[in-house]
Amino acid sequence: QELQLNLEQIEKGGFDHFMLKEIHEQPNAISDTYRGRMLVEQGLIRMAGVDDNMERIANAKRFIIVACGTSWHAGLVAEYILEDLARIPVEVEYASEFRYRNPIITENDVVIAISQSGETADTMAAIKLAKEKGAFVFGVCNVVGSSISRETNAGAYTHAGPEIGVASTKAFTTQITVLTLMALKLGKFKGTISISDFQFHLQEMERIPEKVKQALKSDALIQEIADKYKDATNCLYLGRGYNFPVALEGALKLKEISYIHAEGYPAAEMKHGPIALIDEQMPVVVIATKKGHYEKVVSNIQEIKSRKGKIIAIVTEGDEEVRELADYVVEVPETIESLTPLLTTIPLQLLSYHIAVMLGKNVDQPRNLAKSVTVE
Ligand code: G6P
Repeated sequence: QELQLNLEQIEKGGFDHFMLKEIHEQPNAISDTYRGRMLVEQGLIRMAGVDDNMERIANAKRFIIVACGTSWHAGLVAEYILEDLARIPVEVEYASEFRYRNPIITENDVVIAISQSGETADTMAAIKLAKEKGAFVFGVCNVVGSSISRETNAGAYTHAGPEIGVASTKAFTTQITVLTLMALKLGKFKGTISISDFQFHLQEMERIPEKVKQALKSDALIQEIADKYKDATNCLYLGRGYNFPVALEGALKLKEISYIHAEGYPAAEMKHGPIALIDEQMPVVVIATKKGHYEKVVSNIQEIKSRKGKIIAIVTEGDEEVRELADYVVEVPETIESLTPLLTTIPLQLLSYHIAVMLGKNVDQPRNLAKSVTVE
């Protein structure tokens, strides 16, 4: 028994929980994911799964991304990146809906299946269906040799290392990393991004691990925020563009481990519903980084403030405008818009973690949830 406990402590590497350890592993996990693939000096991205099937993938009429849970959120981020950089239309589907919908799939489609465990039953079923209809299936998995990685036609591993905490953290950011590399590679091949833009993206990607480390330094401030809002019964998360899926993911994290009801919304949709919920009891987490519709998000923040909502804003370093309005601001370093999710996600992971700990919840194994869902 004691030996077992000690082993677990060693595995946690000095952190109280696997989730916290995995949050802090992200700088390394992200660089492990791009290491050997991104050759910045040469201006190259090497991904065997893409290189070997370049014509098939780059000529796809459409990408259909299938996934569940956090992986589905990574798929939503990828939708923005792939459409932006590679100019290929993308649809993102819950695997569980896709498989039962009699979906229209053709041989010109490339299906991208995203799964940390590589064992999710619904995602697996969606892949089988897509293959039957003649689509090419590309997998993005973390667990090497997993069922999904074996079932797909080609793929790319995330190399995040084992993820033990049920709430996914480093799997999410490394999935985004892999899919960004893929989008850049396709964009370069198709000529939909300029060489200088491609190069600039690589250089910025190389700076991300350092910037994630910087973002992790908000931990003490986040603990203060967590303490202030831990007794809330509801919480709203808003973001736009690339950071809309991050809002969804932030809300999911809070639900999963602290059991506080949370909703993620595209900031501009607030006026079509969630604004009715805002009062002085409602904490609203708003992602308001400088790139991407900043001024519009600032006006959403003003609307929240005039309804007395409590504002926790995730902003770009040095921001002053939002600071005037928000109850708390958490800064993340500046980067190009498409890479902001890799940074804005960090404080949201920490916020859910600290609230759950303060509420005495089982962070690594939340009630009713499983790490890998191998049944329907
Ligand atoms: C479960 C896990 C989530 C995960 C989802 C999809 O619900 O608790 O953390 O995002 O399954 O899992 P996958 O392994 O396919 O990414």
